[in-house]
Amino acid sequence: MADAELGRPEPATTAGPPTEAELAEGGLRLEVDGAVATVTLARPERRNAMTFATWRSLAAIGRTLPPEVRVVVLRGDGPSFSAGIDLSMFSGGEGGFPFGADDETGDRFIAGLQEGYTWLRNPEIVTVAAVHGHAIGGGFQLALACDIRIAAEDAKFCMKEPALGLVPDLTGTKPLVEIVGVNRAMELCLTARTVDAAEAARLGFVERVVPSDGLDAAVEALTAELLAVNAEAAVATKRLLLEAPQNTLDEQRAAERREQLVRLRALAAAFSG
Ligand code: ACO
Repeated sequence: MADAELGRPEPATTAGPPTEAELAEGGLRLEVDGAVATVTLARPERRNAMTFATWRSLAAIGRTLPPEVRVVVLRGDGPSFSAGIDLSMFSGGEGGFPFGADDETGDRFIAGLQEGYTWLRNPEIVTVAAVHGHAIGGGFQLALACDIRIAAEDAKFCMKEPALGLVPDLTGTKPLVEIVGVNRAMELCLTARTVDAAEAARLGFVERVVPSDGLDAAVEALTAELLAVNAEAAVATKRLLLEAPQNTLDEQRAAERREQLVRLRALAAAFSG
């Protein structure tokens, strides 16, 4: 079966950032203002449900961010952050899922979708999910792919996939388990229950909860705090923190020394210059 017939996520048509048409097809807006890029899920009439085009465009944004961008904010238009996958993807919308594909083709297909999420872990940027209203399924996983989640009091999180006969496959199971532990992750996923902002903060997958009419201002304040920190130290620290869960203590100590020697030399050069 040809790739086009499968509706496989294709790489961006050019090496450059996604075009306005590609962003619009993905239901996204991208605004880059110096060191801050804001990605807005912009299909409020579908509660920002996401299609293959959304994930293609997100991946293209990640591949082509200008190097001066240090903070990426993900937010949603309208009443919800995101209602997850556009359910028409299961019934032939935009090509639909390649139900008949062999294992290798199916694996590559899903890997292409996951690319829309993986770049949010890049150490060169800090990613912030600004969540209000519902964050369901792939929307919840998008928030989990970010480094920091800031939630309005009305935010509601639900890992709905198992209730629909699916598994969460958009990179969300690892951060969820790392944050809440295996057993709490089981309880959340296997009941597909909805968690409000206050509980999400208690469980540790929301870092800040703010009044519903104060989300934009809170994101702006958080962004300013993040930008006030030394840029190179922020990149090195994110790299270090991301390594920590997999490393032994000795490996992590070695990684700390390696990163710190680079920092100390850079600071010494800056002071002597
Ligand atoms: N896919 C496609 N269309 C959607 C989706 C979706 N995931 N979610 C909402 N819409 C559409 C609705 O069909 C409706 O369309 P209509 O105006 O033509 O009737 C419109 O968006 C508004 O939806 P409402 O349900 O009326 O909005 P409300 O604010 O009351 O509820 C909510 C929002 C809770 C998000 C609800 O729409 C919902 O439960 N959606 C489905 C969520 C879901 O199951 N997602 C898949 C998770 S699994 C995964 O992501 C892999």
